[in-house]
Amino acid sequence: MMDRETDADIHTKKVIHMSEHTLLDSISLHPFDAALGAEVRGIDLNQPLSDELVEAVRAAWAEHLVLRFRGQHNLTLEGQIAFSRHFGRLDSRPQASMAMSEQHNALPPEITVISNVKVDGKPLGALGDAEAVWHADMTYNEHAPKGACLFAKEVPPTGGNTHFANMYAAYDALDPATRRYISSLQCIHDASRNSAGELRLGFEDITDPRRTVGATHPLVATHAVTGKSCLMLGRRRNAYVVGLSLEDSEALLDHLWAHATHARFTWAQVWQSGDLLMWDNACTLHRRDAFDPSTRRLMHRTQIASH
Ligand code: OGA
Ligand code: MN
Repeated sequence: MMDRETDADIHTKKVIHMSEHTLLDSISLHPFDAALGAEVRGIDLNQPLSDELVEAVRAAWAEHLVLRFRGQHNLTLEGQIAFSRHFGRLDSRPQASMAMSEQHNALPPEITVISNVKVDGKPLGALGDAEAVWHADMTYNEHAPKGACLFAKEVPPTGGNTHFANMYAAYDALDPATRRYISSLQCIHDASRNSAGELRLGFEDITDPRRTVGATHPLVATHAVTGKSCLMLGRRRNAYVVGLSLEDSEALLDHLWAHATHARFTWAQVWQSGDLLMWDNACTLHRRDAFDPSTRRLMHRTQIASH
């Protein structure tokens, strides 16, 4: 515990040092009064970034898990792609589960649209207007993405907020007996449905979690960058802890999920158009509130591939 705090202190000092000295007075970091998240001010994401600035953003990201860059109204598709590439290889957007608008299909493959907007009756993006339940992205794959950048082009007047939960903090706050108990357990993460509950192409509707199709991961993961332990829950639906009876698996997962998504580990992003948010997908969960279907929400997402 002491070691961890020392590491965190060093990280914070490094970021402050970078922002004060390398970038003079133009760039600053403003942590939120919450379990995670910070805003970076003074960067235009359309401009090329110096190596020092990329390093400072990387350190701030490792420290705060979610970073927000506000007021990026003119951010281009190319600008978002170039910024995201500083943090790793980008995934191409997954195949959509329905016929998408031509406007959508013409976008660069690195851009996934998250939207309820329809053009000529066809969706411009994924996830619609309903609630998206707590999840980490694509942990049903063996190598889950490192993170994502989500850029708000249009946001509804209310609703559609995105909540994040800190899985280092959730792990650290577990009682020692539970930490010991789960230290060697593995969980299967369901690939069949997305966070809006839609059945993915080519998947059967599973109702018995013991038959879940998807990758198996340890319940306690070690973060590739920070080396710290975090809970790795993925998504609740159809999850199954290998080797336990169904009843014990359900009880353990219910307990861990209730704990991990407790308000004290979370922070909510209330979107403004021009916000770009980047999240660390390995040590956070996120969910989205529903919003009024008669309003428009249009987001561009880039996804940074696994480590
Ligand atoms: C995602 C996601 C939530 C949102 O893009 O992976 O869960 O707020 N989005 O749109
Ligand atoms: Mn998601």
